[in-house]
Amino acid sequence: MLSSSMTCVANFFTYETTKSVVVKSWTIGVINRAVQLLIISYFIGWVFLHEKAYQIRDTSIESSVVTKVKGFGNYSNRIMDTADYVTPPQGTSVFVIITKLIVTENQVQGFCPENNLRYQCTSDSECKKPVSITGGGILTGQCVNFNATFRTCQIQGWCPAEMDNVDVPVMLEAENFTLFIKNSIRFPLFDFEKGNLLPNITAEDIQKCHFHPLKQPFCPILRLGDIVKFAGQNFTSLARTGGIIGIKIGWVCDLDHSWEHCIPSYSFSRLDSVSEKSKVSSGYNFRYAKYYKQENGTEFRTLMKAYGIRFDVLVYGNAGKFNIIPTLINCVAAFTSVGVGTVLCDIILLNFLKGADQYKAKKFEEVSEMVLRPNVPSSSMFRSDQTLGGRCEEKQSTDSGAYSIGL
Ligand SMILES: *[C@@H]1O[C@H](CO)[C@@H](O)[C@H](O)[C@H]1NC(C)=O
Repeated sequence: MLSSSMTCVANFFTYETTKSVVVKSWTIGVINRAVQLLIISYFIGWVFLHEKAYQIRDTSIESSVVTKVKGFGNYSNRIMDTADYVTPPQGTSVFVIITKLIVTENQVQGFCPENNLRYQCTSDSECKKPVSITGGGILTGQCVNFNATFRTCQIQGWCPAEMDNVDVPVMLEAENFTLFIKNSIRFPLFDFEKGNLLPNITAEDIQKCHFHPLKQPFCPILRLGDIVKFAGQNFTSLARTGGIIGIKIGWVCDLDHSWEHCIPSYSFSRLDSVSEKSKVSSGYNFRYAKYYKQENGTEFRTLMKAYGIRFDVLVYGNAGKFNIIPTLINCVAAFTSVGVGTVLCDIILLNFLKGADQYKAKKFEEVSEMVLRPNVPSSSMFRSDQTLGGRCEEKQSTDSGAYSIGL
């Protein structure tokens, strides 16, 4: 009993290694090395050098953007400055340059006829049926004289009602306005901070430089006309209908290089491509009002329908730095993947090569159980789980891990 369990322990403390068959064939040899070379060059070239798999990445970029627009426009005999045409005024990353205004002055609360021809009527009954809510106010259900020639439905609301289908000029000077962008970023994982005002930009540059993707790629002052042009749009038509332009600042940094190598890259695109193509709702506009009070306390307002170009400054980026864990994981993956080549070579060797049967015979050695151990009942040979326990000494090489297929 004692000797039996000793054998058991001795059998446990063993090491198994795979017995290999060396095939001296040019065809399969060349295929084998070529496949291995392919896998190795894929890992070195693409995974390690191009995708930088030896680095740990921080994709959670923290960023702040401050914007400032400068320039003067001339709109309906008024000189417009920043406070007139930029909204909101706080210098946020999303702001609108108003390029066209439809102004309705001196509106007061009251009753008045609709301005739109859609509300034309001949009798009160036409104004009683529910109409769409787009109008100057709530319909009272009466048909009143708009002017000497035609009648429209009466509304209750801010009067006189807005007339927004008029043709108004566009403030084209906005093309020459300049936009100053101040952007600070941080990669929290590496505690890395930087801004788009690079150290080699002098106060003099800031005064006169204008961004250009090739000549001045780091100048933080951008001409609005240039931005729209880089986004592939026509400034005049964009200013007329309104639209949204994205200014993207990318920070893709390899922090294994020095601090100076982490630089921003600017790109531009039109973000509201749906309104560019749509016939139903084209462009971008919004309404706002300024409220006043008369001496006698009556409130009145100036309603403005503004068309403008909205600029969205979008900051994206990621940073990578060498780290031992991804390096190890990817090295192991690379070495393991080299073994994938043997699967392909085995398939070719055992099925398609000349003399495949001989190779098969060499690879899968046939051992008859009767020859090996004539005393053991035949059913227990390939079921080593049955032989565990009391008959441990019979455990020989049935668990070698090699799967023979076919034979
Ligand atoms: C913008 O500035 C240029 C050069 O100063 C000038 O020639 C051009 O007329 C200006 N554009 C508009 C729309 O005012």
